[in-house]
Amino acid sequence: MASETTELREPPLAGGAVPGLGHGLKLVRDPLTFMAGLRDHGDVVRLKLGPKTVYAVTTPALTGALALSPDFKIDGPLWESLEGLLGKEGVATANGPRHRRQRRTIQPAFRMDAIPHYGPIMEEEAHALTERWKPGETVECTSESFRIAVRIAARCLLRGEYMDERAERLSVDLATVFRGMYRRMVVPLGPLYRLPFPANREFNRALADLHLLVDEIVAERRASGQKPNDLLTALLEAKDENGDPIGEQEIHDQVVAILTPGSETVASTIMWLLQVLAEHPEHAERVRVEVESVTGGQPVAFEHVRSLTHTNNVVTEAMRLRPAVWILTRRAVTETSLGGYRIPAGADIVYSPYAIQRDARSYDRNLDFDPDRWLPERAKEVPKYAMSPFSNGNRKCPSDHFSMTQLTLITAAISAKYRFEQATGSNDTTRVGITLRPHDLLLRPMPW
Ligand code: HEM
Repeated sequence: MASETTELREPPLAGGAVPGLGHGLKLVRDPLTFMAGLRDHGDVVRLKLGPKTVYAVTTPALTGALALSPDFKIDGPLWESLEGLLGKEGVATANGPRHRRQRRTIQPAFRMDAIPHYGPIMEEEAHALTERWKPGETVECTSESFRIAVRIAARCLLRGEYMDERAERLSVDLATVFRGMYRRMVVPLGPLYRLPFPANREFNRALADLHLLVDEIVAERRASGQKPNDLLTALLEAKDENGDPIGEQEIHDQVVAILTPGSETVASTIMWLLQVLAEHPEHAERVRVEVESVTGGQPVAFEHVRSLTHTNNVVTEAMRLRPAVWILTRRAVTETSLGGYRIPAGADIVYSPYAIQRDARSYDRNLDFDPDRWLPERAKEVPKYAMSPFSNGNRKCPSDHFSMTQLTLITAAISAKYRFEQATGSNDTTRVGITLRPHDLLLRPMPW
């Protein structure tokens, strides 16, 4: 491989590097603008982060090539800090044969034919949300979005009535853990995070409770003797490469690795959907009209989802402009190439679905919120891989159908009942963390 790649070009250095610091300060100060500007410098560019060189991929085609190539794996500083906090044996950070085996274990729970079983829970949760909200009273969208995302993931995938109260605890823990985790990933101050400051104590308590909760869930399922057809049963019965039952630590880490990406991403997307409904009353009205015509005025149900095409396009367009997962990384396992550029073995590669999905080279009126761009005749003009909020290849999110179904159902249920106004004190500017979400969205649901 090395001899083939020696003729390859060195990717250009992105502009704006500061001596000593490189691009680090720009990336930390305004990561979204920084990532969105990189394509002007090349299809693949080098970034200097202090002494380290990182490679950024900036075109849709090359992000697809990156995701599909076996020359790259999940590794690098971002993943190492995640492993340190969430466990080393879960599917989200595994590679190679273990990763393939783990995907085979979890995949059936997310397949298209499994989704209808989750319909009643998704419906119940979506309607319960609209019941909780009182017309004219301020809704704290962050906690409400987390709550429903965790409840749906936990109740569908780890079935059992006990989840009803546990989901509450889980959502509070996860919100705290994600907040602290991003800080630890971006500003790795090591020992400082062990000092007994209130924020550190709160983080450690939430992380410990998260792990405890997962242990309780597993122990309780075992004690019940029940084996419902769900993801938890699949994990408890999984075998390793030698046909032996997988270890306790792997079961634990797998539950964490599924619940954690499954809650923050969905919660952030729900927040953006609420923000969009408030900001674009004309689309809120179109969703309401569509829901009414599809349901005939009945409560929206799972079976309606496939007919709610405009609602689905609103969800897709919200995810285009505000992708929950805004940055992804890989590491080259060997010397290789991307787009004719040399990538050395061990190089860290980064790309931003946010930058790709907002690029004027891929989308007309690229920053407009325009759900109709997803109508079939227009959608086919979108370049391949220019809209991949769930990623591609062997690391593609297993939950794309599961997520789209619940997001469409929730959007339909809340829009059938309410339109939204920003409440006093609401701050819907973008907060950059592990995911993108509004800083503090406060809305007032108003009856139609
Ligand atoms: C992986 C996005 C919801 C479980 C991923 C990846 C993306 C993503 C982009 C790939 C990461 C990479 O390429 O490095 C999203 C979005 C969601 C969502 C935008 C919702 C709007 C969920 C849910 C679950 C889930 C609800 C589970 C309940 C996972 C898991 C992985 C993953 C386990 C790791 C897959 C692997 O490494 O093989 N997600 N996700 N996600 N997601 Fe999701």
